[in-house]
Amino acid sequence: MRALQIADLSGPESALKEVDLPEPEASHPLTPGSGVLIDVHAAGVSFPEVLQTRGQYQIQPDLPFVPGSEVAGTVRSAPEGSGLAEGDRVASCCMLGAWAEVAVGPDFLTFKLSDELDYAQGSGLILNYHTAYFSLVMRGRLKEGETALVHGAAGGVGTATLQVAKGLGARTIAVVSSDEKERIAREAGADEVVRSDGAWKDEAKELSGGGVDVVIDPVGGDRFTDSLRSLAENGRAVVVGFTGGSIPEVRVNRLLLNNLEVVGAGWGAFVMGKRDVNREIGEAVNRLVDEGFVRPIVGARFKLEQASEALKLIDERGATGKVVLELR
Ligand SMILES: NC(=O)c1ccc[n+]([C@@H]2O[C@H](COP(=O)([O-])OP(=O)(O)OC[C@H]3O[C@@H](n4cnc5c(N)ncnc54)[C@H](OP(=O)(O)O)[C@@H]3O)[C@@H](O)[C@H]2O)c1
Repeated sequence: MRALQIADLSGPESALKEVDLPEPEASHPLTPGSGVLIDVHAAGVSFPEVLQTRGQYQIQPDLPFVPGSEVAGTVRSAPEGSGLAEGDRVASCCMLGAWAEVAVGPDFLTFKLSDELDYAQGSGLILNYHTAYFSLVMRGRLKEGETALVHGAAGGVGTATLQVAKGLGARTIAVVSSDEKERIAREAGADEVVRSDGAWKDEAKELSGGGVDVVIDPVGGDRFTDSLRSLAENGRAVVVGFTGGSIPEVRVNRLLLNNLEVVGAGWGAFVMGKRDVNREIGEAVNRLVDEGFVRPIVGARFKLEQASEALKLIDERGATGKVVLELR
């Protein structure tokens, strides 16, 4: 089968190599001896793969390896009791190995794909939308009628968070850096959009009538202190990622003075092996698909052999919505 490998750690432009590999067995490292074998139609591209081409991500297998953490496609074979059968359209979080014609997903992270979504949308469903639901609901305890401020709101996690928050009955304020990203955030249903290089903290306080209830932050960096300042009493700042490049530090007196919480949201680490939690999140996300709230926004589409361009786009901060490799 055709596949791409990260062959060295020279960065997005040069680290990838196209190879011909034997097709995988129906066995996944998380479920040894068992796995859902999938004919890949589309594979997602995300920030971690950019980091992996530089050896900077926490999941860094020995070289060379096939990257790609999520796919959408059709089931070739599925373990008994998984509820999946040959020919089913699915979305799967396979962790690695997605950038190939055939991939293997663990059954507990493979979900039937609604007919409402195409394969490209399906390849952007699990990582971003499950993270969004986990961050908003299970970590941020977002309730109907509350206001959520979303950083990096035109990105993969950002657009997913806007849609999920809306589906949960919350009001959303998106923080973005450009006109084009503002357009994407509005397409994702943002109620309000503010600019990261403007007075966003004051605007957010005004728009929310004194402070937001939840901040979802996949960006980190210098803006974190202003995120805390934008929260209302009992507000929760949820730490999701650090695309801004630096890990913020918190002066905890701010938490005491305003009765705030900083909460970590590490979806992958939390849900691993927890079938019930994955089922709960999968059902909630599929319900939001059926209700029309969740529609992954696909930005750039590339062929497998163009994956370096896809990585560069993300690395240079030009990506909007989900970046996808289309294989079939
Ligand atoms: N915690 C979890 O469980 C979990 C799960 C999935 C992903 N993540 C993490 O969440 C983060 C976001 O992922 P994503 O897929 O949404 O990324 P993405 O689509 O590339 O979007 C990230 C956004 O970050 C903003 N940004 C600010 N400074 C940036 C910089 N120096 N370089 C690049 N982007 C910058 C950009 O928005 P503006 O230009 O508008 O500022 C961009 O749209 C990543 O760190 C990822 O590893 C965490």
